[in-house]
Amino acid sequence: MKKTLAFLPLLLLLAAFTPASKPADPEIPADVKPLLEKYGCVACHALNRKLVGPMWTDVGAKKYSAKRIMQLVAKPEPANWPGYPPMAAQKVPKADLTKIANWLSSMK
Ligand code: HEC
Repeated sequence: MKKTLAFLPLLLLLAAFTPASKPADPEIPADVKPLLEKYGCVACHALNRKLVGPMWTDVGAKKYSAKRIMQLVAKPEPANWPGYPPMAAQKVPKADLTKIANWLSSMK
């Protein structure tokens, strides 16, 4: 028993550094990340950490269509997020917003 416990930290360390040993965490795709930075979304949203606004994985869990996300970014509905301050309408050119919305709507 004692021995097993002693090996535990080592095992955890190994697990942490073994690539692709578990299903990959969701990641922000390389073509979307710079847009989130460019339009300042990163000030209030992170992938899986609550900031001022909900984390992207929580937004993804709402299973919105891309079209609906585009509407909500241009015209937020704070009632969808009790406990959060209201988001101000965000001005993002359609082509870029489409990329962001497609990603959010495709999140599992
Ligand atoms: C100043 C902080 C802030 C910034 C900047 C910001 N958001 Fe938000 N966002 C919020 C908050 C707070 C909420 C939850 C309340 C709400 O929807 O009004 C939210 C909600 C959302 C939602 C969910 C909408 C819904 O009704 O479910 C989406 C999608 C979203 N933000 C996308 C974006 C995108 C894309 C950008 C960048 C263009 C952005 N946000 C920038 C604070 C922010």
